[in-house]
Amino acid sequence: MTNIVIFGKGGIGKSTIASNLSTVYALQGRKVLHVGCDPKHDSTLGLVEGGLIETFMEKYSRVFGVRDHVELKPEDLLVKGRLGIDCIEAGGPEPGVGCAGRGISLMLEALQDLRILDNGGYDIQVFDVLGDVVCGGFAAPLRKGFAEKIVIVASEELMALYAANNIAKSVKTYSSNGVYLAGVVANLKDGQVERGRLERFAALLNTRILEFVPRDPAVREAEFARDKTVVERAPGSPFTKSVESLAAKILAVRREDCPVPTPMDDRRFYGAW
Ligand SMILES: Nc1ncnc2c1ncn2[C@@H]1O[C@H](COP(=O)(O)OP(=O)(O)OP(=O)(O)O)[C@@H](O)[C@H]1O
Ligand SMILES: [Mg+2]
Repeated sequence: MTNIVIFGKGGIGKSTIASNLSTVYALQGRKVLHVGCDPKHDSTLGLVEGGLIETFMEKYSRVFGVRDHVELKPEDLLVKGRLGIDCIEAGGPEPGVGCAGRGISLMLEALQDLRILDNGGYDIQVFDVLGDVVCGGFAAPLRKGFAEKIVIVASEELMALYAANNIAKSVKTYSSNGVYLAGVVANLKDGQVERGRLERFAALLNTRILEFVPRDPAVREAEFARDKTVVERAPGSPFTKSVESLAAKILAVRREDCPVPTPMDDRRFYGAW
């Protein structure tokens, strides 16, 4: 079983890459669990017939709102997506109200109680976790020992690299939980950008660039159509080829190849360029 947790700055392409990775693995015949850890609950949009699914937090308040104790079964929480991908979205409070991290923590506890994440159930578990790590709730998959291979999505932009450096700090903090940094995905904004700077950044973190993913209009088209992922709609497109390559590289990375990351303090980060 491989557990993959995708982190990165807001809007960097985590959900796009995560949902297409799940699709690649499912098309290869693997049994996939896709977990959206974001109140926006849009990670599974392209994976499920009919789009938005009822979130864990919606189910939680519907079921627990009326009863003190209920026996939940895995099939109560999981939604069967296309290609046999099992999907769940944490959901969370309305913007500006409550704590989004709480929803993620409750969902992870429920997945654990029902032994959904135990070895044997799935070949691949993909977690799509929101934003950079700004509060403990968002680091819950790291803290609670659910996470294994961390993949950070960044771009060539400074703030994306700043977030990546911060995420590497969390990976370092929780490395004793078995978490390791598999590498950085460079989801490029500009195809002409000088790649050496990204390679140098990865080296400073003691990690690697797993893949350079190009900007591709096929991504936008799939997002508006919402019926399929890019990998299914546009086989052979530059984006699809790079996600297929990324999927293979993530599986190939071994724990022994992934030393504890060496994130920079802010002064060093800003002085590094
Ligand atoms: N390689 C790409 N080529 C073209 N468009 C892309 C690419 N990657 C991402 N996008 C677009 O960028 C936008 C943000 O992507 P996405 O929602 O996957 O980011 P995210 O990191 O999950 O965001 P959030 O932090 O808000 O959850 C989307 O409109 C998506 O279609
Ligand atoms: Mg997202």
